[in-house]
Amino acid sequence: PLKVLLKMTVLAGFLTSSIQAYAEPIQIKFSHVVAENTPKGQMALKFKELVEQRLPGEYQVNVFPNSQLFGDNNEVAALLLNDVQFVAPSLSKFERYTKKLQIFDLPFLFENMESVDRFQQSDSGQKLLNSMKRKGIVGLGYLHNGMKQLSASSPLILPTDANGKKFRIMASDVLAAQFQAVDAIPVKKPFSEVFTLLQTRAIDGQENTWSNIYSKKFFEVQSHITESNHGVLDYMVVTSAEFWKSLPADKRTVIKSSLDEALAHGNQIAAAKVDKDKATIAASKRSDIIQLTTDQRQEWVSSMKPVWRQFEAKIGKDLIDAAVASNK
Ligand code: LMR
Repeated sequence: PLKVLLKMTVLAGFLTSSIQAYAEPIQIKFSHVVAENTPKGQMALKFKELVEQRLPGEYQVNVFPNSQLFGDNNEVAALLLNDVQFVAPSLSKFERYTKKLQIFDLPFLFENMESVDRFQQSDSGQKLLNSMKRKGIVGLGYLHNGMKQLSASSPLILPTDANGKKFRIMASDVLAAQFQAVDAIPVKKPFSEVFTLLQTRAIDGQENTWSNIYSKKFFEVQSHITESNHGVLDYMVVTSAEFWKSLPADKRTVIKSSLDEALAHGNQIAAAKVDKDKATIAASKRSDIIQLTTDQRQEWVSSMKPVWRQFEAKIGKDLIDAAVASNK
């Protein structure tokens, strides 16, 4: 009987392993709008690598960059339909789901990326990850890109230089108000259209990080870039509550820790890219980089900062105060 039992055990073991070998891994889609040589692009690839290494044969992560699968206008809707399981839109793109995240768009709120990081990691910042819970959206973590610069087809030195000019913005009312504050014309457009809009001169300028200006070649079609550091462009990695709850608890733990490590990796790349991508743009001589004097920059601050008051009621004064405090 022992022999029979042994045989049966071996057979059962063989069957289980062959079932596992033939079972298809569960497919997870991660869609984003930027190039692969960016903090977000590299973070998503690191996430794929770690999940597939730690759950071999069980889960496969397919990353779709460059708005290939979904773009700004439909990625969160696709997430809620479970057509994609992870997206990481910039914090400016969640306005339809919560007004709280508008805080990140307030011009000249954060002095630098360390302040942004302190605020995101604080209790107030961590609470914001849950701000879209009622909409079925789960915030899993923040990812840095960096501070935004202003680019245009003419030099922008004083706020009056922006008068009457058209600027592409992400779909955010705070960003619209920011450009209206300097008598410019904000135009909400998806990221995938920006290069062509600039190249054809349908719009005059835009705001973005060094990484995006470089990886999407905006510097080749904008004669001037003002190093304004006037706002932040960061991301929230989100999934749907439906998908997240459907995962077995032990797998969810592995997927979450893989994401946390991927985010740390992406943040390192973000920090390195500021100087690197800016230097590459400068070396290309395609675009003049304008450094503002303290007085010139102060003019932009004075023109744009009144925008805070317009959004204070919706965002909450306490939250704004907490963000200001993160400047130390
Ligand atoms: C933009 O639309 O300019 C950015 O949000 C793109 C991105 O994801 O970095």
